[in-house]
Amino acid sequence: MALSLGIGLEFSQRFVRQNNKPFIPIHHMEAHALTVRMFEPVSFPFLVLLISGGHSLLAVARGVDDFLLLGHTLDEAPGDSLDKVARRLSLIRHPQCSTLSGGQAIELLAKDGDRTRFSFRTPMGQSYDCCFSFAGLRNQINMTIMKKEAEEGIECGTLLSCVNDIAAATQHTVACHLAKRTHRAILFCKANGLLPSLCPTLVLSGGVASNQYIRKALRIITDSTGLCLLCPPAKFCTDNGVMIAWNGVERLREGTGILPPNADISYEPKAQLGVDLTAAVKAAAIRLPSVRMKI
Ligand code: KG4
Ligand code: ZN
Repeated sequence: MALSLGIGLEFSQRFVRQNNKPFIPIHHMEAHALTVRMFEPVSFPFLVLLISGGHSLLAVARGVDDFLLLGHTLDEAPGDSLDKVARRLSLIRHPQCSTLSGGQAIELLAKDGDRTRFSFRTPMGQSYDCCFSFAGLRNQINMTIMKKEAEEGIECGTLLSCVNDIAAATQHTVACHLAKRTHRAILFCKANGLLPSLCPTLVLSGGVASNQYIRKALRIITDSTGLCLLCPPAKFCTDNGVMIAWNGVERLREGTGILPPNADISYEPKAQLGVDLTAAVKAAAIRLPSVRMKI
């Protein structure tokens, strides 16, 4: 990661100097959060759930460079977990999945699976905050896969007969976890007046946000809490140059964070997004009313 950031930075510094253009450093997660504004005139503040291969976070976007961080992952990101589960299931050997990312493969197979054949515990049921955790869930899934391999008498690296059901149960549990943490974030925002009363909005972004099942889970939550749900088109949910360029446009329009071409800049592989409110969210310890996740 650091190596690719270094190469990108070196190239862009040379480019802006040669062309005498301003230099606008972009925070990757800020760019994910703002992509939606390229398609819809959503105004600040709004709540955003960013779920990708490298990140999982809930934040209130109050301005182009003004964020309140409500929750983040304590271990791995959901896309990373789905990729690892897909690898452990050897989905690359599945005729329908050989060209798909792990998350896409799980979504496709889950369509023909029975999620009730396996029940995985939704993570962090006893933590009344908005943080996420996926490592323990992946451990539960790995144990199930090992058990099934033993039952079917096959080795790791061979496709199990029940991959569709494991994919469906995995996707359902990830969706429920994301939905519950987001539900609490919405209630925290309402209790603290962080969202407008007129058309409060949840924006879903990042590679995992292109998952239709996860979108449906979040729609159940936004419908039950009176929020509008917005998702940028799937192909703009994953990492791409357009989303970074759009963030540059937003900053240019605002006139914030624009540096001269010869600015001395270094990259930060782990830059925090905005003001950290996770301790306040935890202290509020909001209990969730039960919501039926019939997806
Ligand atoms: O946003 P992104 O391109 O990269 C990062 O910033 O990390 O997201 C890539 C991640 C991968 O982990 C991939 O498995 C996941 O997004 N992904 C999906 C789907 N499409 C991509 N996860 C679940 N369902 C999908 N349909
Ligand atoms: Zn990304």
